[in-house]
Amino acid sequence: MVNCSISIKRWYHICKYEFIFMPEYKIIVANWKMQLTVSEAKQQALNLKKLLGKSKIDKNIEIVICPDFLSLVEVADIFKGSRVKIGAQDGFYEEAGAYTGQISLSDLKASGCQYVILGHSEKRNLGETDIVINKKVRAALAHGLTPIICVGETFEERKEGQKDLVVMHQVYQALHEVRLKPKQKIVIAYEPVWVIGSGQAIGSADAYDAALVIGQSTLDVFEKESHGSVSIIYGGSVNPENIKDFTGLPNISGALVGGASLDAKTFVSIIKNI
Ligand code: 13P
Repeated sequence: MVNCSISIKRWYHICKYEFIFMPEYKIIVANWKMQLTVSEAKQQALNLKKLLGKSKIDKNIEIVICPDFLSLVEVADIFKGSRVKIGAQDGFYEEAGAYTGQISLSDLKASGCQYVILGHSEKRNLGETDIVINKKVRAALAHGLTPIICVGETFEERKEGQKDLVVMHQVYQALHEVRLKPKQKIVIAYEPVWVIGSGQAIGSADAYDAALVIGQSTLDVFEKESHGSVSIIYGGSVNPENIKDFTGLPNISGALVGGASLDAKTFVSIIKNI
């Protein structure tokens, strides 16, 4: 009986999440990682701008390009005045000071960024902790940037049946003491670590389940304050053929794209097939 009422409450939350919490628009984020030189990044931005200019793309799709730090200013310049938004691949939580190698969120904002990817598994792999990610999330929001928070389990964690727990833990930690003001947004990208760059995405049923867990976890943290302000997207070997498997789901509103975002034509096909 107790279990039943818990699951009814959970189901109610899940339904509420699907119908109330999902924003109206879709979002496609290109993560160029450390794959392009500055001149390649500029060329890629120009190709993309030209191709997007010729393509009919629903105005409710938000397109975000995340170049590396060195290319960011020039790429932002190329897309200035267009519908394309710019994101950084990381950002430090302190405002200024003796922090060798770090880039401040206020400088990123001043350079034309509206988004920042935080907690990517490739950063977590290099030692970034949940505590640091949480500080960055709070600082990003304070600077008017939208954090794209990456969560996802490793293959070992999945094999051990820890997938949901890992994802819940990462969401809770990243959002610890985060308060959303009106109009502030958060994007949570579910990226199962073991499919990144593998060429083989997970199935849509798996993505749907993970998005339910993430949706429930954000509800636990925010309750009512996040109506329409949290988007859940999927990342990991997304391509033009499989994008709809994810964006066709009622609880996933976009994708975080690595390899397939490095070719303008392929990336535009993904956007068109959303
Ligand atoms: P791929 O699309 O190359 O699998 O990369 C996914 C990713 O890590 C995006 O952040």
